[in-house]
Amino acid sequence: MKLWAGRTGGDVDERLSAINNSIGFDSRMYRQDITGSIAHATMLGRQGIIPAGDAEKIVEGLKGILADIDSGALEIDMECEDIHTFVEATLTQRIGDAGKRLHTARSRNDQVALDIRMYLADRIDRLSALAKDLAHALCDVAEQHLETVMPGYTHLQRAQPVTLGHYLMAYAQMLLRDIDRLADCKRRTLVLPLGSGALAGTTYPLDRAYVAELLGFNGISMNSLDGVSDRDFALELLGDLSIMMCHLSRFSEEICLWCSWEFKFVTLADDFSTGSSIMPQKKNPDITELVRGKTGRVYGDLMTLLTAMKALPLAYNKDMQEDKEALFDAVDTAELSLSVLAPMLRTATFHPENMRRAAAGGFINATDCADYMVRKGVPFRDAYGVVGRLVRHCIEAGLTLEELPLEVYRQFSPVFDADVYPAIDLLTCVSQRNIPGGPAPEAVKATIEATRKALG
Ligand code: ARG
Repeated sequence: MKLWAGRTGGDVDERLSAINNSIGFDSRMYRQDITGSIAHATMLGRQGIIPAGDAEKIVEGLKGILADIDSGALEIDMECEDIHTFVEATLTQRIGDAGKRLHTARSRNDQVALDIRMYLADRIDRLSALAKDLAHALCDVAEQHLETVMPGYTHLQRAQPVTLGHYLMAYAQMLLRDIDRLADCKRRTLVLPLGSGALAGTTYPLDRAYVAELLGFNGISMNSLDGVSDRDFALELLGDLSIMMCHLSRFSEEICLWCSWEFKFVTLADDFSTGSSIMPQKKNPDITELVRGKTGRVYGDLMTLLTAMKALPLAYNKDMQEDKEALFDAVDTAELSLSVLAPMLRTATFHPENMRRAAAGGFINATDCADYMVRKGVPFRDAYGVVGRLVRHCIEAGLTLEELPLEVYRQFSPVFDADVYPAIDLLTCVSQRNIPGGPAPEAVKATIEATRKALG
């Protein structure tokens, strides 16, 4: 029998239940549902909308239900339509008629909007804590590699020398922005929809601001139609998580590449590596491949909700029940991804010698060689031309710029002197890029400090 039996008989076809019931997934919001109801009942009692004694009974009853679900003493009945119905029915079973007053001046439409907001705000806190942990791990590892020279790439071609520290800190910056976006999203999530009723508010003299205060919300929604039908905060979170997963997938891709024999810049700890069932020699970075792959799921979740919300007329429509599975999948996936990457990074072994070797090939100090000529008075475009020809000569001769004898340099331009060698030394090349945000060890150190400060 349904909560809403009356208008219809309440007995429904089991196939209707199969598509209509949401308890299978919304039961995970039981804590938020109960906490929201406690605040609502407290306010109803305080405003004299329901007898104070009943409000007290309701609050005590709800606290008991929460404690019992937490302890496992009370099992959530999966035959119920949704978590809201389950909590209300259990309350009435336990405290009798007073329980029937809980839903005064409220609809499941504003109730569910409240529950999701509370649930997501909690998850945002966990997500930011995990993102911070990963950003700290990046800072810690970067700090050990301020002078670990490696090639920086464009088009996946060796381009200019950077350091591993600088490289890792690029990802820390992305996470800082992700954390900031999450905080911004939380601000808009904590707007109280309760009081919107089904769609047109309520005739009861609710104190909405008091409920907002009790629940730690920033304010109240200003239009009841919007209050029940707004899922912007959910879309924003999915958008924010999609961007964050994009960052994690890029980082994961680098780790996959770096684990390959072709690069061998890093070896993952055995605890964070997997093997092959047939190839005995294999040690695979499944972990980063999975994060890379799971990114697609989160994008899919964003598309699910964007599409479900598209063109919905005001106000609440049952389509909106579809928000939860997408949201839950996205927050679970993002949380899992963040939580594996931090320990993977902390336990990985980087190979500075291989990075250095890779940096030595590919003429990544060619720009610095041109800059050297510029310092000797040659216009940059001319210097660029000379060094291009020098590189071609080196390739034909099988030499690096460091190995090319001075007399050969001089055949290309008289400005070259013995001081060209220290000028094109890879660590010098990196150290000379000592501007804020640059790869010089000092600059990266400053970035690490600023990042740690921002992380708090
Ligand atoms: N399970 C529903 C949801 O998630 C709760 C709201 C039900 N409202 C309604 N008018 N049937 O959206």
